[in-house]
Amino acid sequence: MTTADPDLAAGTAKGGVHRAQRHDSALKHATGEAVFIDDMPEPAGLLHAALVLSPVAHGRLRAVDLTAARAADGVVAALTAADVPGRNDIAPVRENEPLFADALVEHAGQPIAAIAATSLDAARAAAKKAVLDIEALPAVLTIDQAVARQSLLYPPVVMARGDADAALGSAPHRLSNSFRVGGQEHFYLEGQVALALPGEDGDLIIHSSTQHPTEVQHIVARVLGLDYNQVTVMVRRMGGAFGGKESNASWVAAAAALLARATGRPVKLRLPRAHDMVATGKRHGFLYRYTVGFDDDGRVLGLDATLAANGGHSVDLTPGVLARALTHVDNVYWVPHIRCTGLACKTNTVSNTAFRGFGGPQGVVVMEDAIGRIAHALGKTAEAVRAVNFYGEGKDDETPYGQKVEDNLIRRCVAQVARDSDWDQRRAGIDAFNRGSAVIKRGLGQFPLKFGISFNIPSMNQAGALVHVYSDGSVRLNHGGTEMGQGLFVKVAQVVAEVFQVDLDRIRVTATSTGEVPNTSPTAASTGSDLNGWAAFAAANTIRQRMAAFAAGHFDVPEDTIAFRDNHVHVTRPGDNRVMAFGELARLCHQDRVSLSATGFYKTPKIHWDAEKMNGRPFFYFSYGAAVAEVAIDTLTGEMRVLRVDLVQDCGRSLNPAVDRGQIEGAFAQGMGWLTCEELWWDPEGRLRTAGPSTYKIPGSRDMPPIFNVRILQDAPAREATIFRSKAIGEPPLMLATAVWTALKDAIASVVDHQVPVTLDAPATPERVLMTVQAVRQGRRTI
Ligand code: MTE
Ligand code: MOS
Repeated sequence: MTTADPDLAAGTAKGGVHRAQRHDSALKHATGEAVFIDDMPEPAGLLHAALVLSPVAHGRLRAVDLTAARAADGVVAALTAADVPGRNDIAPVRENEPLFADALVEHAGQPIAAIAATSLDAARAAAKKAVLDIEALPAVLTIDQAVARQSLLYPPVVMARGDADAALGSAPHRLSNSFRVGGQEHFYLEGQVALALPGEDGDLIIHSSTQHPTEVQHIVARVLGLDYNQVTVMVRRMGGAFGGKESNASWVAAAAALLARATGRPVKLRLPRAHDMVATGKRHGFLYRYTVGFDDDGRVLGLDATLAANGGHSVDLTPGVLARALTHVDNVYWVPHIRCTGLACKTNTVSNTAFRGFGGPQGVVVMEDAIGRIAHALGKTAEAVRAVNFYGEGKDDETPYGQKVEDNLIRRCVAQVARDSDWDQRRAGIDAFNRGSAVIKRGLGQFPLKFGISFNIPSMNQAGALVHVYSDGSVRLNHGGTEMGQGLFVKVAQVVAEVFQVDLDRIRVTATSTGEVPNTSPTAASTGSDLNGWAAFAAANTIRQRMAAFAAGHFDVPEDTIAFRDNHVHVTRPGDNRVMAFGELARLCHQDRVSLSATGFYKTPKIHWDAEKMNGRPFFYFSYGAAVAEVAIDTLTGEMRVLRVDLVQDCGRSLNPAVDRGQIEGAFAQGMGWLTCEELWWDPEGRLRTAGPSTYKIPGSRDMPPIFNVRILQDAPAREATIFRSKAIGEPPLMLATAVWTALKDAIASVVDHQVPVTLDAPATPERVLMTVQAVRQGRRTI
């Protein structure tokens, strides 16, 4: 075999695909030796930067007086929009989103100026000396205000199939509801940071904590008026990103680059947590209204839903997030007639952005809420109502946007999680517990998931890689994907180990760089290992084929008798078992002038998308999962605990079960945080008052369920030709936390013996749980 088989791992080298391998930096993360940008040795002459942010949510910027700031100790430069030599525009997809406010400020926390000084303290002290003259204007601060005033970033987007109005009109039953879910701060442990190093002839090297080195390159070039080839962006690793370093990293880097350009000195900009939280975008909060029509069995006949997202003051990535929300309203359910309207609300808050799930989480909650209401209206269990609505294997397997559900694992995941969680027995046990417990109430919730994998802009689904084999047989791997803790580097290295059949410790993964692999997409939409895995496979396989051809000549045998196995190349002819170490083969190839370096490229097949009509096949495949969660609430305080969680997650044929398991656990915890304890709170002037860990609560170790059973769905190779039949894992399990929200509603409903349907806005903080308990007791809808 001269070509590695992407379906079947031969599996003799240590650390090939499908093996549980620890994260390549796991020990360094634990000991603190892993180098993040702020740990890098500081270059001579380094300046530190700080930003001047708007204290006002909306206003006319009449003057920025930096005289005192410039005169302060250690200050070398103080710049505003007027000092931008190129374009003052950091928009990732559209246009005209300023780096520094110019004439108009549009949210509290918006950058207005940047200071560079000889020390970090000096820069931050000088930033406080900036004098701003802002004439405050009325601000739109909430989704409700934006909807009422039709303050939108762009016209409404509609995804529709069939005739929703007619279906709702003729349905035997109909109900409506409205609810909201809040946004979420990424709270990556390493904040936004960039180090800009000026070189010769205006060139720049930027070390950026970014998921999207190419976009940093483009935006730095745009702001400074440079060609792309003058800017090289590098990132070895991020201390977490979660979508927050997809578009937001580029303006941080652009500010550092601008100061470096102005001073001719290296400049580091690292945002303090309080600035990071007010000046960078978050998950979009949503307001929902829907009407659903259904029959006596609970079968959904029609759905009309409006999803209003808080986009913040500029477009940023909202079009993609809102489109993903709309294409995930159906989740695992066949809805024959449907109209979903997406509103991108323009408010005077920070511009919201990518966050793990990218709108998917905000989409899937709609049908989940509807299922609960339908079940209550018909006196059925939610599980029974779900089951009659699952996509099937017939005409009812097409999504509202026209993609067939061809790899349906819904029923398998749900059946598995019901078994694992001992659902039937525990359901009965919890009901019995609640009858005997006046204050503490328990609840049980289930959630099935389908999540589409691919960027729904088809052109973004491409990747490149660069592989070198050195003459000692050691391998250097570079690709366009970035490492943010998710384990991408080890997974792609496993792919290369598999192709060459050499041990994983022979593969060295190097920092992502726009100079090595150009024109890359962000590492996002969970596609990192799918895209870069295939690109690295292609590069390694090109070299392997050259080496095999050389080996065949060397041994004077047909090429198809050459096999790579166990760090060696073997002749596999009856009676002929000659063998050579991989390193020796590499040395001989070099002697014989065989190139041992190759690039690889991959583009996802089969996908297409019409963003106007919201129709096509945006996703290469779907990823599935199911969850069961049990909670207990204290009806006197509203506090809650998650007691037990059972998860089943489809990973295809997992590239690395250890890393995938970590992703499932981490994503679930982050989803729990979004739906329960993480609350963003702005004061009436539009200033974020939860701008630090003392007021913004992410889940901690004590919030983890004491019983947390995570299972990777077995014997489920991807139906499509993904890399070694694996599936993406980064985002989907976040949505499994929806089971906690469902369980909380169940616990609250038990207070009135399930006589009242419960609407529970998220995050379901203790206050909100308590108010909802009181509301159901009084027979009110909710708060
Ligand atoms: N895991 C860790 N540890 N840190 C992160 O920042 N980001 C998530 C997910 N898992 C993230 C993470 C997000 S938002 C995405 S899109 C994917 O990782 C991106 O990486 P992948 O495509 O390689 O899965
Ligand atoms: Mo992830 S939100 O796609 O970076």
